[in-house]
Amino acid sequence: MRSFNPALSLPALPFLWSGLVSAASGPSSSFNASIPRWEWWPNAGPLDNGDRGQYLNLSSGVDLWYTTMGDECSEHTPVLILHGGTGNSNQMYLQANMLARTRRVILQDTRGEGRSPYQNFTEFHYDDFTRDAIAILDHLQIPRVAVLGWSDGAITGLDLAMNYSSRIERVFAHGANIQANMSIPGHDDPIINSDSGSLDSDFATNGTTYAISRRGLRRRAAEDDADPYTCENLSPTPDKCAAMEQGVINMWNTEPTWGPEAMLKVRCPVWIVDGDHDTSVERNQADAMAAWIPFAGQLLLPHVGHDALMEDPKFFNFAVEYFMDMAFDGVLPYY
Ligand SMILES: *[C@@H]1O[C@H](CO)[C@@H](O)[C@H](O)[C@H]1NC(C)=O
Ligand SMILES: *[C@@H]1O[C@H](CO)[C@@H](O)[C@H](O)[C@H]1NC(C)=O
Ligand SMILES: *[C@@H]1O[C@H](CO)[C@@H](O)[C@H](O)[C@H]1NC(C)=O
Ligand SMILES: *[C@@H]1O[C@H](CO)[C@@H](O)[C@H](O)[C@H]1NC(C)=O
Ligand SMILES: *[C@@H]1O[C@H](CO)[C@@H](O)[C@H](O)[C@H]1NC(C)=O
Ligand SMILES: *[C@@H]1O[C@H](CO)[C@@H](O)[C@H](O)[C@H]1NC(C)=O
Repeated sequence: MRSFNPALSLPALPFLWSGLVSAASGPSSSFNASIPRWEWWPNAGPLDNGDRGQYLNLSSGVDLWYTTMGDECSEHTPVLILHGGTGNSNQMYLQANMLARTRRVILQDTRGEGRSPYQNFTEFHYDDFTRDAIAILDHLQIPRVAVLGWSDGAITGLDLAMNYSSRIERVFAHGANIQANMSIPGHDDPIINSDSGSLDSDFATNGTTYAISRRGLRRRAAEDDADPYTCENLSPTPDKCAAMEQGVINMWNTEPTWGPEAMLKVRCPVWIVDGDHDTSVERNQADAMAAWIPFAGQLLLPHVGHDALMEDPKFFNFAVEYFMDMAFDGVLPYY
């Protein structure tokens, strides 16, 4: 989860709190309707391949966990799934399991996160995540993929599209930001005309267009549920989990720093996606990216937040599959 303002401190990293709950796409029995859907921290779950994966050991000493699912011979473009910061591939299990029914899916645990050990590097950078993804695709001899990215994974997806255009067919970017401090486009930008340049003030009015800290968000599963999908339980370097979290937060505080020029480098079909109640990323980020990436589409998902993919997987998965299967003539869709 991102929170660029340390003053709005996180009670804990919510990605590390996930527990075991059913993978059903409807309301789960543990859903408490007296609390808005976007105020829950949802749970990660198992991949249909039994969470079996392997390592790509880079010559730098960085080891990357990855797994593949689905039919290698599918006529659909393979999909690379990139999870959010401090997390792991299991947070994307509902999308991976759905897409793997019709196509090949590749998931990687970001360096230092999930099952990928935090060793032989210190700082976290989106550009490294980007090169890691290319290394895995090279290793698997996959020339071209579509990307489904969430949060840090969506930022990496855009980094890939900017710099490796021949390898990236399209990007579904959910919950990304382009500026660490979310100051662009700022209060004078016509895209957003709120006084603060963010939409924080709308929180007081219960508006649907705001970003706040994740204070007060509640975990859906009982706090004492066993949770296999924590850094401590997955990582080969469990003693480094706290250091990893701090390293990722340092990255969030300083990266990315992209503007219109960077967005102009993206020349493939893109949907910029966000929850209308994203409490981690401000709306100006999605608006700016959708405006600056040539021919990008923008999708605001209703009644969900940063964790939309687990809060409302039925709607989210429909959007993902629809986008992945949409025909594009260059960057414009045709029907
Ligand atoms: C639902 O959440 C409300 C507010 O926290 C709480 O008072 C209530 O007991 C919860 N209900 C269930 C069934 O957990
Ligand atoms: C690759 O990395 C994993 C995770 O760090 C490690 O367990 C494994 O021994 C490494 N394999 C080789 C051949 O170095
Ligand atoms: C990577 O880190 C491990 C554990 O500290 C160490 O044993 C190994 O030599 C390192 N590999 C490289 C290539 O630096
Ligand atoms: C991708 O492009 C952006 C914008 O020019 C740049 O900041 C970034 O360093 C590039 N990333 C890589 C991996 O080359
Ligand atoms: C926002 O919602 C809260 C809780 O439902 C309510 O107490 C408050 O009055 C609402 N604020 C406005 C401005 O409607
Ligand atoms: C936000 O970060 C950018 C660098 O990316 C910097 O130029 C700008 O001054 C920062 N704005 C604030 C309000 O800190």
